[in-house]
Amino acid sequence: MSGSDDLNFIGGRWVPSASGKTFENRNPADRDDRVGRYQRSTAKDVDDAVAAARKAYRAWRLTPAPKRAEFLFAAGDILKRRKEEIARLMTREMGKVLVETRGDVQEAIDMAFLAAGEGRRLFGVTAPSELANKFAMAVRDPIGVCGFITPWNFPIAIPAWKSMAALICGNTIVIKPATDTPASVIELAKVFVEAGLPDGVFNVVTGTGSEVGDPLVHHPEVNVISFTGSTSVGKAIGVECAKQNKRFHLEMGGKNAILIMDDADLDLAVEGAVWGAFGTTGQRCTASSRLLVHRAVLAEFEGRLVARAKKLKVGNGLEEGVDMGPCVSESQRETVAKYVEIGRGEGKLLTGGRKLTDGAWAKGWFHEPTIFEARRDARVSCEEIFGPVTTIIPVDSLEEGIDVANGVAYGLSGAIYTRDVNKAFTAMRDFETGLFYVNAATIGAEVHLPFGGVKDTGNGHREAGVAGIDVFSEWKSIYVDFSGRLQKAQIDT
Ligand code: UN1
Repeated sequence: MSGSDDLNFIGGRWVPSASGKTFENRNPADRDDRVGRYQRSTAKDVDDAVAAARKAYRAWRLTPAPKRAEFLFAAGDILKRRKEEIARLMTREMGKVLVETRGDVQEAIDMAFLAAGEGRRLFGVTAPSELANKFAMAVRDPIGVCGFITPWNFPIAIPAWKSMAALICGNTIVIKPATDTPASVIELAKVFVEAGLPDGVFNVVTGTGSEVGDPLVHHPEVNVISFTGSTSVGKAIGVECAKQNKRFHLEMGGKNAILIMDDADLDLAVEGAVWGAFGTTGQRCTASSRLLVHRAVLAEFEGRLVARAKKLKVGNGLEEGVDMGPCVSESQRETVAKYVEIGRGEGKLLTGGRKLTDGAWAKGWFHEPTIFEARRDARVSCEEIFGPVTTIIPVDSLEEGIDVANGVAYGLSGAIYTRDVNKAFTAMRDFETGLFYVNAATIGAEVHLPFGGVKDTGNGHREAGVAGIDVFSEWKSIYVDFSGRLQKAQIDT
């Protein structure tokens, strides 16, 4: 699939932006490869999309959930068929290696089938009434029009987490994909079209955060905002939604720690650390960006990790044998370079630290896998970098490790490598995170469990799993009195 020029998708039609303007995206591994041209949309386009979603909501909310599920089952099948093609486009669009973009599409497939299965559940509760001849239950209602602002690091998985959960509940959607990755979301729209989803149920408006994201957040007819991205933008969205008393779900930054104990299987821990730190070029909110290593195994672990990191093949993710792709953009690589400079001043650079600009690398935004050793309070130990940089922090005990792990603003994911079940359970209990792994890295969440974090990572919601259903539905408690007389709760008991 070569570069394509794409329109917005509003009310079941592919339409240009009212602005008449477009923007171009190029492959971050190869700037000669033009991925496509997209609409640079405005508040007017957002208005049109919200109006279409509002209109479609009337019928969609009344469509029986098992019927809604049929569209999602179909979408899952289409994604399966188109997995390779979409994965290749995604690698060209944002750079991560093909095995990972296949995984990204697989996550969307998993979510489609999970959400479709919910179509025959969407369980509510029934409870006995305190009064005779009275029936009590609570059901889930859809909320209305959902506005999604999605990131570039999981260009189809995260839009799928949000969309599939919202759709099965009976909501309609306007999505603004990340400026760097509109193509993957446009493919998702095409999948929904092929699945026969009714017009206006899923709408895509491409463009920038200020020109499209802001109007979506401010729009009085948008009932829910679900955002995945940086903590600073998320908090600003939260403030605006609070002013409007609008429901909002935020999924933000991370500074995730793997605690490597002195009894760990070091081969396993090194493999996990490499995968967790440098998978997706470190551009995951769940990336293992801190490695808290027990001093008894520090020298051994560092030696092995550095040797493994040096062997990683950096290059175009479409090529066989490449382990790590580029940073998504020039500005992202600049952020990495800035933090590398900060880290050099704060700690010890163990490997990496340079932009890769020679030969074939010259056409992309490549950077070496980089490892620091630093103190727990160094900036590279506390701030989210979102690139191929991880920091080793020596610790002397389980207690200190847990204390360091919890000593940052974020609380998304954590992990421990140990053979001691008592240590594993203690860490599992005491890490202040929404995700936790034993003898695995901090990445690799599966769609049927809640995904999200505490502290500055989230705002109390989770997505995927049944938790996603909670974000996109409202409880309605219903009492049916069939006694034929006035019964007064709390009084006639
Ligand atoms: C993200 O890092 O933004 O658990 C999402 C994981 C993936 C999702 C990550 N399944 O690493």
